[in-house]
Formats: sequence, C-alpha cells, structure tokens
Amino acid sequence: MGSGIMGGGVAEACAAAGAHVTVRARTKASAEALVAQIEHSLAKQVEKGKRTTDDAAALRQRITVSTSLADLADCELVIETVVEDLEVKMELFRALDAVVSPKAIIATCTSTLPVIDLAMQVSRPERVCGVHFFNPVHTMMLVEVVRPICASDETIEAVIEFVLACGKEPIEVKDQAGFIVNALLFPYLNNAVRLLEHGVATKEGIDAAMKGGCGFPMGPFALLDLVGLDTSLAILDALYLEYADANYAPVPLLRRMVSAGLYGRKSGEGFYQYGP
Ligand SMILES: NC(=O)c1ccc[n+]([C@@H]2O[C@H](COP(=O)([O-])OP(=O)(O)OC[C@H]3O[C@@H](n4cnc5c(N)ncnc54)[C@H](O)[C@@H]3O)[C@@H](O)[C@H]2O)c1
Repeated sequence: MGSGIMGGGVAEACAAAGAHVTVRARTKASAEALVAQIEHSLAKQVEKGKRTTDDAAALRQRITVSTSLADLADCELVIETVVEDLEVKMELFRALDAVVSPKAIIATCTSTLPVIDLAMQVSRPERVCGVHFFNPVHTMMLVEVVRPICASDETIEAVIEFVLACGKEPIEVKDQAGFIVNALLFPYLNNAVRLLEHGVATKEGIDAAMKGGCGFPMGPFALLDLVGLDTSLAILDALYLEYADANYAPVPLLRRMVSAGLYGRKSGEGFYQYGP
C-alpha cells in the first residue's frame, strides 16, 4: 500500500527476495511514477554491477502495480507505506480488513505512530505489527519489527522470518513512538535545525561538521532532505505527543519550510536544491 519513497523501496526489496508483489497506488499517474522509480533504481544497480540485467528484469516482472484495493485480496502480507498520518492509515486499515484474507498479516511501515491504534481498526489485531524499513531500502540493512501489545508471537515470528528472507537485519522493538532509531535520531536532527535557526553555523558547515567530526555518512540537513521534511515534521509531532519532551518539539523553521512546500529531495527543494 502506497507508492511514495518507501512504497517503491519496500516493493523492490520484497521482489528481490523472490516474492510476488502487488503495489497499490491511488492514481494511475502515481503508479506509473512508482514503476519509473523502481526501474531507475534497478538500472543503477545494473550499472554499478550489483545486479545482472537478467536478474533485474526478473525482479521487475515480479512487481505488479494496481490502483484497486481488491487486487490485494490474495496477499499473505500487506505492508502499508502511506503518508505519516494516523487518520489516513486508520481508514486504510479498515478498508484493508474488508478486502484481504483473515489469515493475512497487515504490517505498517510507520516511523512513529502507535501501531496499536492501527491494529484496533481491524478484526484481526493479533495479526498486525510494524515493519519499519529504512531509506533507501535497498542499501539499509535494518528493519525494526514493532510489536504492539495485541500481536501474537506467530505474527512477529512470521514477519521476522520474512525480513530475514529479504536479506535484512530484523530487530524487535516495543510499540513506542520512534521505536529505537527515530527516538534517538530525531532530537539530533531537530537540534541541528535549531542551530541553523540560531545562526550558529551554515547548513553546509553543520553537515560538514557532523560528517568530519562524527564520521556520519551524511549531515543532518542532507538526511532531513532525504527523509522528507513533511515526514520529518510528522515524526517529530508524533514523538512530542508521546513524550512531551522539548527536544522533540519541532523547531519552527522546519514547520515553516513544510508550509512552504519545501519537502526535500522529493519536491526538488528542502535545505538544498535538487535537479530534475
Ligand atoms: N521517508 C523515509 O525516510 C521513511 C523511512 C521509513 C519509514 N517511513 C514511513 O513510511 C511511510 C511513507 O513515507 P514516504 O517517505 O514513502 O512518504 P511519501 O510522501 O514519499 O509517500 C506517501 C504516500 O502516501 C500516499 N498518500 C498520501 N495521502 C494519502 C491518503 N490520504 N490516502 C492514501 N494514500 C495517501 C501518497 O500518494 C504516497 O504514495 C510513512 O509512514 C513514513 O513515516 C519513511
């Protein structure tokens, strides 16, 4: 479910593991954009010698794109990757429950939202959990497997097995906002925006400092642009709602940039500008 940054990445990772994948996009245009995104990613992997042309073609064949929810009826595992908005996700879970087999597991890729609230929308709460892949999916090994209090051991075990089959590293975590990585990462990203807002250094300076001084592969502003500023703001809002800790309260500059439509790489401009 979902055809954004994570929808494409997760579909590709599942198909790479040999699974037949149906991606549900809302519109024909977003379905076409998703196919273009996956084909571009595969072409780059072939170019870098990470995949053969035949392997990439076979992987592509295993992915079907649809705009109809009914096409998910036969799925054994549904992974929801739509916008980080609890109301939108809850509505989708209700719709999915009516369509997919009662035996199917429904998992969410949410970064911070309470998985339990999604589980309570369906008739099989014991078959719901989180499966938090990281961006870009094909290079990031970690997947947080999030256990809401209603999940059965069978569900968590099946999802861990699936993550291992994708060649990723599952880590089980409690259903608490931000899980492990974002609970630790987002105060840092938020405080980087605060430093910029206070004029302590330029964004280029802060990015270079965190790369050179901490050995990070990219600085906080490059990372915020990669994640998406809209998604980052939604993550911080959810973290603040859960913990009421000032470190999670989004810095005003971030909210203003989202209001201005500066979402990062996906919109062509965030803290930095990106070509077409
Ligand atoms: N971006 C990241 O780095 C990252 C990493 C891990 C997890 N996530 C999580 O994955 C999920 C998707 O994030 P993304 O980065 O792919 O976002 P995105 O903005 O790239 O894509 C969002 C998708 O949601 C769809 N959508 C928007 N409004 C909708 C609605 N009302 N009904 C149905 N679909 C709707 C869009 O069409 C799009 O397909 C979020 O829960 C996010 O927290 C994101």
